[in-house]
Amino acid sequence: MYKKIASIIQDAVPQKIITNTEIEQLLEKPKYQHLGDIAFPCFTLAKSLKKAPNVIALEIGDNIKSDFIQEVQVVGGYINLFLNKLQVTREVIAKIMIAHESYGQQEIQQKNIVIDFSSPNIAKPFSMGHLRSTVIGNALANIAEKNGYNVIRVNHLGDWGTQFGKLLVAFQLWGEKERVQQSPIEELLKLYVKFHDEAETNESLNEEARSAFKALEDNDPQAMALWTWFKSASLQEFKQIYEQLHIQFDSYEGEAFYNEKMQSVVDELKKKQLLTESDGANVVELGDMPPCLITKQDGATLYATRDLAAAFYRQAQYEPSQVFYVVGNEQTLHFKQVFQVISKMGYPWSGNLKHVPFGMMLKDGKKMSTRKGRVILLKDVLKEAVETASRNIEEKNPTLNNKQNVAEQVGIGAIIFNDLKNFRLNDIEFSLPQMLNFEGETGPYVQYTHARIHSILEKAKFTASNEVTGKELEDSAWEVIKLLQQYPQAITDSFEQVDPSLIAKYVLQLARLFNKYYANTKILVEDEQQKSRLQLCFAVATVLKNGLKLLGIKSPESM
Ligand code: ARG
Repeated sequence: MYKKIASIIQDAVPQKIITNTEIEQLLEKPKYQHLGDIAFPCFTLAKSLKKAPNVIALEIGDNIKSDFIQEVQVVGGYINLFLNKLQVTREVIAKIMIAHESYGQQEIQQKNIVIDFSSPNIAKPFSMGHLRSTVIGNALANIAEKNGYNVIRVNHLGDWGTQFGKLLVAFQLWGEKERVQQSPIEELLKLYVKFHDEAETNESLNEEARSAFKALEDNDPQAMALWTWFKSASLQEFKQIYEQLHIQFDSYEGEAFYNEKMQSVVDELKKKQLLTESDGANVVELGDMPPCLITKQDGATLYATRDLAAAFYRQAQYEPSQVFYVVGNEQTLHFKQVFQVISKMGYPWSGNLKHVPFGMMLKDGKKMSTRKGRVILLKDVLKEAVETASRNIEEKNPTLNNKQNVAEQVGIGAIIFNDLKNFRLNDIEFSLPQMLNFEGETGPYVQYTHARIHSILEKAKFTASNEVTGKELEDSAWEVIKLLQQYPQAITDSFEQVDPSLIAKYVLQLARLFNKYYANTKILVEDEQQKSRLQLCFAVATVLKNGLKLLGIKSPESM
């Protein structure tokens, strides 16, 4: 709408002294409804037109002519525009009925975006921090697709590094095959913790671990066999979580995948004389930040070395226009270093690499920590959320069909929404009761609004058609329609600002405004506006479902 209004105003401005985009950026939503739907302040034009803003406003206001505008009022230096409600309503509703689920889809770009997200560490529990990366990354991937990009979803598994040397040693010393088979992640974590405890008094363990990792890096068959087993057992557990969240990846090429691909990066660094020796280790000096460690004294590679190899591999494989790394803000320095190394190597595409950081998940205001007993396992959280949702259903709607399915969709939707409704850099507090509340700013509230509309449409036996009735609706419908109109803009904004919370806030607001409308309107009364009201309901349900889907949340039809 703002684009359209901007071009209408542009036609009324003398001598094209301002561009469409500039006009669009100046447009405001007036504070009070009686001042119109959109306002254009003329103050910035005063200089170039050499006239007072109120004179300019009067002159431009006089020139504005369009079917979309019902009335133009000038107040001081402001031009206040009242949209032609009927015209706008018809246009928006028709668009949504025709496009249906693809409403808001932007033009196809022929550009690839790689999104590196989730990326848990094998042999360790899937933490709440990884959950944040998973849901934020998945939403960004969906949003990028809606913006016309081709997205490659990459799970950069943490499956390599000195910690696997420790695990190999610990398993050989104290491991029991059956127990690991039964609950791999739990048992492997125990072994890992035991290793650290024992290593405090027994220094030789660390030495053994180093050589065990060396063996792994050199493809020693016995070490490889154990590692492969640990990995597949861990992946099995992770995949259950992804299935529950309905998240898929195009690639699980994690750190180990780059084992054979790091040498060429090290060689190139050497050739370009970027590598310096420091206490036997090889580093790249970066001037204003700490050096980036490339290989240790014993030749072992590091997390950063693998990220360098990964960046080159992806560049060759996908030629992405952008790469997003959705990783907690505690890794900010790591990514700065990696990007800077690539830039020093002379590759301008280092500018396409973007760390997308996020804040912590807190429990009672504090960081979750394994040692202090504040750790929460995602598996348990998902289970509890679904159980709570299930109890809610038993209480409020015990005859519902498909109860188990709906409980899954609501419980998991609540968790995802609780995360995404906040700007990603904010820390978020973990509270199940708050997340599962059916009122307030929650996922179930939005889902519930969608389901409620669905049942209205069902009662009325409504079917969408391309023919818009276009009767003028009640005033409270107007706010809903204006918001529906802004959905495509919310989609571009959330992509440009790399911020899924804009979509979450959008669906919340749409649900709220619709419920306000619904509280004041008898939708099913059979009068001549009934069909228009139902078409509005259909449009709202479509956009709610669509928005939730971008966030990775299902919309049950009844709940
Ligand atoms: N596995 C890492 C961790 O849990 C995250 C990996 C993020 N991706 C990357 N390309 N470094 O901390």
